Amino acid sequence: MESTPESFAWATASLIPMTAVTPVVPPCEPTSQGAIIAELYQVTKSFGGAVPCLHRVSLQLRRGDFYFLTGASGSGKSTLLKLLCGQLQPDQGIVRLFGEEVNPHQDRRMAQLRRRLGVIFQDFKLLGDRSVAENVAFALLVRGIPKTEIQQRVQTALKLVGLSHKANAKPQSLSGGEQQRVSIARAIVGSPELLLADEPTGNLDSQTSQQILALLHRLHQHGLTVLFTTHDLALTRLVPHRILHLHHGKLESLTHP
Ligand SMILES: Nc1ncnc2c1ncn2[C@@H]1O[C@H](COP(=O)(O)OP(=O)(O)OP(=O)(O)O)[C@@H](O)[C@H]1O
Ligand SMILES: [Mg+2]
Repeated sequence: MESTPESFAWATASLIPMTAVTPVVPPCEPTSQGAIIAELYQVTKSFGGAVPCLHRVSLQLRRGDFYFLTGASGSGKSTLLKLLCGQLQPDQGIVRLFGEEVNPHQDRRMAQLRRRLGVIFQDFKLLGDRSVAENVAFALLVRGIPKTEIQQRVQTALKLVGLSHKANAKPQSLSGGEQQRVSIARAIVGSPELLLADEPTGNLDSQTSQQILALLHRLHQHGLTVLFTTHDLALTRLVPHRILHLHHGKLESLTHP
């Protein structure tokens, strides 16, 4: 499905004030019971060690939900996200995205599936020789989207993350939190259906982390399905979303702490 200006409406509907979220008290919100948008079925992934990184992990993400994925450093959070977006292949089990089996070897099919995904990488992966606006526009250029639409989308995405004034800056001149917001703008500029955010608040101070969480929470309120990995349990207490917890290769819980 190609993105359209209309499908970007959730982004333009309401600009997000970059204010900290107010802590809320659980209980957990009921799941939306939307359609299954992404799925792991009995997935095992090993990197050659004695214990698999992920062992027979099953998971279903439903459209319209927001999930935290928690777990200690090295518990397999990034690996799980890489399996979902086809950067890695499972040793056993099945990964499905939008109802289709993920196969990293099917380049053209994967490119189509990835257009429906937004990914925020743990290490930003911004291009140092390009401006902020060029970084955000990059993935749209190869999709043959008209230049005027790209400009409009980039402006909207940068406004959304509060960085319109940095459009012409190079990433290395930005703070860590600003670079993180550029990577969010880049992830949402194509109007994804599912956002995979790998430690989007890693290495940020607590106030900036809360602002990033508030931003993603508001995007979720406009219809975006979000999987947000973090090892910061305090963050998961701020908004009442479902929590998936990785421990010793297993997905252990689906509850609030
Ligand atoms: N390409 C790889 N080659 C070998 N081992 C890997 C590879 N990728 C991940 N691992 C190992 O798999 C385990 C899980 O790594 P992963 O990056 O998924 O953890 P994580 O939960 O994201 O950790 P962090 O919170 O530090 O980001 C680690 O022990 C890591 O060393
Ligand atoms: Mg990680």
